Amino acid sequence: MTMTYETVLNSLKDGVLTITINRPEKLNALNAKTIEELHETLLEAENDNQVKVLILTGAGDKAFVAGADIAEFANFSVQQGKNLSATGHFKIFNFIENYSKPVIAAVNGFALGGGLELAMACHIRIAAEGAKLGLPEVSLGLIPGYGGTQRLAQLVGKAKAFEMICTGDFISADEALRWGLVNHVCSSDQLLVKANEISARINLRSPSAVRTAIKVVNSGFNKNENGFEVEIEEFGKLFATNDFKEGVDAFMNKRKPSFTGN
Ligand code: COA
Repeated sequence: MTMTYETVLNSLKDGVLTITINRPEKLNALNAKTIEELHETLLEAENDNQVKVLILTGAGDKAFVAGADIAEFANFSVQQGKNLSATGHFKIFNFIENYSKPVIAAVNGFALGGGLELAMACHIRIAAEGAKLGLPEVSLGLIPGYGGTQRLAQLVGKAKAFEMICTGDFISADEALRWGLVNHVCSSDQLLVKANEISARINLRSPSAVRTAIKVVNSGFNKNENGFEVEIEEFGKLFATNDFKEGVDAFMNKRKPSFTGN
């Protein structure tokens, strides 16, 4: 990772790239520059073989991301609103969901609107005690426009999604855990520790298999694909990888595998 940015900080250690959204004075709200810089970071990390897992978090102790930048879209037209949503889907939210490496959201405070949508686009979510999660767009006369109407319903079911989206109310980290919206809750000081522990577990595994698993799980949520058929196809393809040969050889010889991701 070579590029440096203003609104996004990167730190790479032991195969784990921690990306910190860095606008704490605006509670890390996503403006156009942040969307662009986050996209650039994700693009670079995708092609960097040293990066195996990504952790996404927010600067400061108050917010993960408090939503899209309201000041920036205050005077938007219909077309601009549509573009804002489409660009976000393309550059960040769908991009992360279909990323070739696992992305873990470490939710360190408010995850509201686009912030919760960002966390929901990630593959795994961990929240700090005291985090507040919600989709308050209806209080602005909007609806979630970065995939929230779809992903929240996928994660917590339609009934709870309707309640959260139509009231705009926030839920606590513990309630999010009960609904399966986050995988774990821990104290603030353990948040990145926990995210790194999970990353380290993933790092022991075959990157080819992990990449394929993300693709196949996602395929079942795509109306144009049959997840079972994609699974059959992708399962077969893995038999041609060096990772498969290495994994089986290591098992047979009672040693730890050393995967290359090929
Ligand atoms: N867009 C733009 N700026 C935002 C923002 C957002 N989504 N969320 C917070 N900010 C800014 C505030 O305007 C304020 O800036 P200022 O100091 O220049 O006035 C700063 O971040 C701190 O926020 P503030 O509202 O003073 O903090 P608070 O502790 O009183 O309240 C929240 C925290 C999260 C409850 C409140 O900021 C909020 O409701 N934010 C908007 C959440 C939202 O509706 N998100 C969905 C957007 S689609």
